[in-house]
Amino acid sequence: MLLPKTAACTENVNGELYIDGLAVTGIAKEYGTPLYLYSANRIRENYRRMHSAFRRLRKKFRLNFAVKANSNLTTLSILRTEGSGADCSSPAEIMLAKTAGFEGEQIIYSGNYSSDRELEYGFKSGAIVNLDDGPLLERLLRFGRPDVVSFRVNPGVGRGKYKGLVTAGPEAKFGMVEEDAVRAYGFAKKSGIGRFGLHMMSGSNVLDPEYFPAITDRLMAIAGRISRELGIEFDFIDIGGGFGVPYQEEEDELPVEEVAEMVVGRFEDGIASAGTMGDPQLFIEPGRYIVCDAGFLLATVTHVKKGERNFIGCDAGMNTLLRPALYGAYHEILPANRMNDAREMTASVTGQICENTDMMGKDRKMPELEPGDLLAFMDCGAYGYSMASNYNSRPLPAEVFIIDGKTYLARESETVPDFLKRQTVPPVVRKGAE
Ligand code: LLP
Repeated sequence: MLLPKTAACTENVNGELYIDGLAVTGIAKEYGTPLYLYSANRIRENYRRMHSAFRRLRKKFRLNFAVKANSNLTTLSILRTEGSGADCSSPAEIMLAKTAGFEGEQIIYSGNYSSDRELEYGFKSGAIVNLDDGPLLERLLRFGRPDVVSFRVNPGVGRGKYKGLVTAGPEAKFGMVEEDAVRAYGFAKKSGIGRFGLHMMSGSNVLDPEYFPAITDRLMAIAGRISRELGIEFDFIDIGGGFGVPYQEEEDELPVEEVAEMVVGRFEDGIASAGTMGDPQLFIEPGRYIVCDAGFLLATVTHVKKGERNFIGCDAGMNTLLRPALYGAYHEILPANRMNDAREMTASVTGQICENTDMMGKDRKMPELEPGDLLAFMDCGAYGYSMASNYNSRPLPAEVFIIDGKTYLARESETVPDFLKRQTVPPVVRKGAE
């Protein structure tokens, strides 16, 4: 069987799937399944490709990795040593970024519907605070005046591979429309804040290269108006993440060099045509692009049900990888120890969760599989572990990294006693039950 073209750092060696030169069957045996497995090399490669595509065109450029995509401390540490910044969405993500060595303004904190405590934490952490609404600044100022403030705007349009991945436009809960943004920056200036950023995040997993310059144009038009009307210069302008990756055979890779050329072109045109916004840094905050194809989910086949419809059951489900159930998202699934077997059976791959949405892949062509066979879910490095849950009281899986040809257990799997120990039954209830 040929490997799908979306499969980076993989090989088929005599019918067995290898990742970065190691047989996944051996790794599954050593660490158990379900298991998230990552290639540290591939994370570095992806970072470097994206970073250099932009950096060669604009020196004033920074890539802030979106921690929500993969918040494992090993991932964050790898990216910090590459020179990345960190885009955090919660106080806990700021704590994780700091633990991995990110400091102060290397971190940008974009919360939404933040509580006072979260605003206070963000401010005191020294991160750049990016606010999702104008009045949040009044609340933040109770804790002190930040050196720099940024606001998230809704540029009026958004795009995403699935409806649930659109984060701007008329139905989005994020950011402010242009008029409200102008008011917010006016208030920020009056409050004595001296440095400003501007931010948008309009959607995720976009493979159309033309989308990125188009959306940059919109943001630069808003930035131009704010700077002209209020006499504000920007330290940075952040066009967000959203850079897509191919999950399916028929999808093409995003040509990042071309995207960077178009985006930097429009960015610099916007600066020149306004003539009032200073010389801001260009920020991007990709998550998926950096980690997606570097991550794999290994699962063991637990039972094969044959009948009018065939089902391959395995020990990874919507609790381990939520994307198929939540968005109808497609992940390639490889029979990792039977790569050369003919794929003669049509079957849906499912987990062990008591929901019919627990469908990891519908009507896939698979070889005749048996309990004990190994499946590899591809492109699971982004929004895989970070969206996993304990539903049906299933413990979270372990995470293992391949670094320089060796495996490292970066996070142990949870155990049932882990979640039993956080519960206590009030004595009054216990008594009632006697
Ligand atoms: N910045 C902000 C403020 C974001 O909200 C996000 C993602 C990113 C950056 C990174 O976007 P990326 O480059 O990864 O597209 N759970 C979904 C993806 C939701 C993305 C939400 N925000 C999925 O599994 O596909």
